[in-house]
Amino acid sequence: MAGHGAAKPMRAEAGGPLRGSAEVPGDKSISHRALILGALAVGETRIAGLLEGQDVLDTGKAMEAFGAEVERTAPGAWRVSGVGVGGFHEPANVIDHGNAGTGVRLVMGAMATTDITATFTGDASLRSRPMGRITDPLALFGAEARGRRGGRLPITLTGAANPTPVTYTTPMPSAQVKSAVLLAGLNAPGETVVIEKEATRDHTERMLAGFGASVLTEETAEGRVITLRGQPELRPQTIVVPRDPSSAAFPVAAALLVEGSEVLVPGIGMNPTRAGFYDTLVDMGADIAFENRRLEGGEPVADLRVRFRVLQGIEVPPERAPAMIDEYPILAALAATAEGATVMRGIKEMRVKESDRIDAMARGLESCGVGVEEGPDFMIVHGRGPGSVAGGVTVASRLDHRIAMSFLCLGLAAKAPVTVDDGGPIATSFPGFVELMRGLGATIHG
Ligand code: S3P
Repeated sequence: MAGHGAAKPMRAEAGGPLRGSAEVPGDKSISHRALILGALAVGETRIAGLLEGQDVLDTGKAMEAFGAEVERTAPGAWRVSGVGVGGFHEPANVIDHGNAGTGVRLVMGAMATTDITATFTGDASLRSRPMGRITDPLALFGAEARGRRGGRLPITLTGAANPTPVTYTTPMPSAQVKSAVLLAGLNAPGETVVIEKEATRDHTERMLAGFGASVLTEETAEGRVITLRGQPELRPQTIVVPRDPSSAAFPVAAALLVEGSEVLVPGIGMNPTRAGFYDTLVDMGADIAFENRRLEGGEPVADLRVRFRVLQGIEVPPERAPAMIDEYPILAALAATAEGATVMRGIKEMRVKESDRIDAMARGLESCGVGVEEGPDFMIVHGRGPGSVAGGVTVASRLDHRIAMSFLCLGLAAKAPVTVDDGGPIATSFPGFVELMRGLGATIHG
C-alpha cells in the first residue's frame, strides 16, 4: 500500500507531442459511495467501472469488516451484498483506510448511528489530517469518538444506540462532512438536514436518491439545504461509475503543456459540482471541446478533446473553489507555463488535503524556477510562458498522489527533467497513470 513500501522515485522529461486517447479510471468519489451505499442496501448491488485504486479498495475492505460481502467479478465489476441501514456488524479488528480521507470520513458517518464500536486508522498522511470536522457533527447524533490530540486518527468511534436526527450547517465547504452527516442520518429517525453555504459535490445526494431514499435539495438564502428522511429501506442498484474528472485533469493538462499535442479523454464525469477546472481552462484560453454530452447513470458525462494552446494567467473566481478543489495542484503546474499570473483565492481547504497542497506546490514550483506568492488561503503563480520552466530538480510528493502527478506533468514541459521522490501514492487514485501517459507518448521513467 502507498506509504508503506519503499519510495518509488519517478522522472518525467520533455519529448514530442502527446497523441491518442486516454481512458482514465472510474471516479473516486462515486466509487467510495457506491461501495458504502451498496453495503447499506438489502440485497445485491452491482457496480461497473469502479476505481480499483487503493483508497477505494480500502473502503471495500471496510465494508466487509462491517458485514457486507464485497466481490470482484471482472476488472472494474464488483458485487456488494448489503446488510441494510442499521445492519452493520461490529468489526473484529482496526479498520485501516490507508491514504483515504473520503473513505474514513464517510465510513465513520455510515456507522455513527449503529450501536457498535470501531477503531479507524490510516497512513502517516491520513493520521495527520483533521477529523474533528467529522466527529463533532457525529456527536450531535449521540456518537462518541476518542482519538489522538487535535482529533487525529487513530479514533475509536462508538455509534449512538438511540440516535437523534440532526440539523447541521457545515463550517467549511466539504462534501465529506456533508456526506458523513447524511450517511449518519440514514439510521436516525425523522429528518436530518445539512446546510452548506457553498455547494459541494453532490454525488451522495444523487446516489441516495437512486437507492430510493427521500432526499430533497433546496437553494435558499442561507445556502443549499439538503433534507434526508431517516431509516429508509435502500434498494440495491446497478451503478455505472463515470470516469474521474480529477484524474482526467492530468492527461488534459499534459496536452496543454506539450506543444503540438492532441488528446481525447472520453467518458468524463461533468457534474457541475466537479467541473470547475474545465471552466477555468476555458477561461485561460484552452482549446478544449466537450463532445457527446450525455447522461450516464444519473451523472452528466462528455468526451474531452484537447489541443495544445498557450494559456493565459487569470484570476480564478474564488466561488469556483469547491468545484475544483482537487485540481489546484495541476492548475498551479499549468499556471507555471502560462503567460502572466494565475491568482487562486479561497483555497484554504487545500492545506488539509493529503498534504498541505499550497505549501507542496509552492516549494516544488519555486525549486523549478517559478515565482509563487502564497498566504493562508491563496496562491499566485507567476507564469514563465511555455518552454521556460527550468526543472532539473527532485520534488517531494509528501504521500500525495496529486502532487506527484502534477510535477510529473510539469516535467513533460520543463527544460530539464523533473523527478518526484515517491510516485507510489499515485496508485491510491490513478492506477496505471504512468502507462497511460506513456501510451500518449510521454517520457516518464520509474
Ligand atoms: C471528496 C471531497 C473533497 C475532495 C476529496 C473527495 C468526496 O474533500 O477533496 O478528494 O468524495 O467527498 P472535502 O470534503 O474535504 O472538501
